[in-house]
Formats: sequence, structure tokens, C-alpha cells
Amino acid sequence: MKVTVVGAGAVGASCAEYIAIKNFASEVVILDIKEGYAEGKAMDLMQCASLNGFDTKITGSTNDYSKTANSDICVITSGIPRKPGMTREELIGINAGIVKMVSTSLVEHSPNTILIVVSNPMDTMTYLAHKVTGLPKHRIIGMGGALDSARFKYRLAEALEAPISDVDGMVIGGHSDKGMVPLISHATRNSIKVSEFISSERLEQVAADTKVGGATLTGLLGTSAWYAPGAAVSGLVQAIACDQKKIFPCSTLLDGEYGLSDLCIGVPVILGRNGIEKIVNVPLSDAEKAHMIESAEGVKKTNGLLEL
Ligand code: 2OP
Repeated sequence: MKVTVVGAGAVGASCAEYIAIKNFASEVVILDIKEGYAEGKAMDLMQCASLNGFDTKITGSTNDYSKTANSDICVITSGIPRKPGMTREELIGINAGIVKMVSTSLVEHSPNTILIVVSNPMDTMTYLAHKVTGLPKHRIIGMGGALDSARFKYRLAEALEAPISDVDGMVIGGHSDKGMVPLISHATRNSIKVSEFISSERLEQVAADTKVGGATLTGLLGTSAWYAPGAAVSGLVQAIACDQKKIFPCSTLLDGEYGLSDLCIGVPVILGRNGIEKIVNVPLSDAEKAHMIESAEGVKKTNGLLEL
């Protein structure tokens, strides 16, 4: 199993690190445009191998796409991250050009690859990757919902004063401060609805804190987060590589599912060796349905800024 990660910044390096630590991939290639940077990150990570007990071979390259040839999975983290006060949508000007170039170069060298898009604004960048590569829709996956759901579970556990392993919940919709739809109606503590434990006001607060999860970290760190994004990507990569058939909310091209078409947005999917094996339809409350429609309108508005 060969995995390429484009972008050796904090998110890319963190993806490579988590993938290696989980020890399921034979090879991880990191690529970056900054001279020597990916090589340096790869060497530093390889020097963790004996300490962390993994055998994955990590190599780095300065923008040489031939090194990525025949990758089973390619992760795109390239582009600029947001600064405090910025929305993900504001990154479109610079990141669209980068994602277009990176995704076409990757597919040229790995025509059978599965692409995972992390660059922001993620749903629009996933849609762009579809348009420019023409890959079938089950092989282009946007990473947002897995991260947003992890942040939702963190906030739920905090509010419930429960261990995170006791909590389950999912966030669908667009990967943006306004677009995320935390599915409160489906959130549980050990299979009991969370509304049995805490008030609806407290749950609304959990949802609001979840939606600004990325912005809160950007305010604290001065740039966007990397540990949880890296861990979320590694979860998707592992589900595909190990054919786990796990459910994650991912951004995928919809064609009538959830009443939506011609956009990529987060919905629950089953991930396995073929990428997106199935889109899962979950019943939504009226409020969640309305929120999902509003979220899709926001994503389409951002898609409208693309020069296709
Ligand atoms: C986030 O931290 C990477 O979009 C990203 O939410």
C-alpha cells in the first residue's frame, strides 16, 4: 500500500506520522514545493520508526511527481492555511490554483488512485478535483466530517462529563463555521440519546462550539490545527487501505442523495478498498434538514467562485 501526502506542512506531516504509526502502509511519500522540506520531514519521521515501532518507509521529494507514481491513495493538504479571523472560504483564490495543479499531476502518475482532499475550502476543493481530474466519484473524498465529528465528540464528552469512548456523534454538511450540521438527534452516550442527560440549551452550545472548532484553534495557535486533521485523515486512509467498511462523514459528489445534486458536501459514507463504497442515508430532524439545505446553498455559493 503506497500513500502519497502532498504538502509537508503541519497537517501533511501529521497525516504521514499517524499513517506510519498505525503501521498498515508499506510506503508513504511526502511531497512539497519548498526545497528539501519534504525530505527533511521524511527523515525526521523515519528516525521515529525504531522508537515508535513502525516499518512504513517514509520518503520525501521536492515536487517530483514521478516519486508518487502508482500510489493507491493520495492526500492533498497543499495550500495556505487560514489565519485568525479568516474563514475557510477566503482561501479559495490561492488554493484553487494549487489544488487544480496538484490533483491533475497526481492522477497523471497514479491513474488508479483514490484522492483525499484536505485543502480548504474543502468541499469546493473536492468538487474542483472532480471537475479537473474526471475521476469516478467513489475515488474522490473530502476530509472534513471525520474531523468535525471528532470535535463534536470532544465537546459532547466535556458537556456530559463522560469519557470520549462513551460518546458517539456525527457532523454532516459543509466543512465551514456556518455549514456544519452536528446531528444532535443521533448523538448518544453508550447508545442512550444525549438529550436524556443534558438540556437542549447545553446541546445547542455543544453544537455551536463544534462548528467553530477550527476557528477556535486558529485563534489560539495563530494558524489552523494539525493533530486532529492528521488523525482524521489517517482514519480515512486506514479504512480504505484495510478495507474496513467503516462509516465516516465525508464530502462526496451528490446526485440526488439528501435531495442535493452537483456539489460535494459531507454525508455519511462507507469507506473500503474502492473508496466510497456507499452513501448512507440517515433520517434527519426538520431542523437538521433545513440546516443541511442552508449548508448546501453556502457550498454552492463558494463553488460559484471557481473558474471552471
Ligand atoms: C480545520 O482545522 C484543517 O479545516 C481544518 O478545521
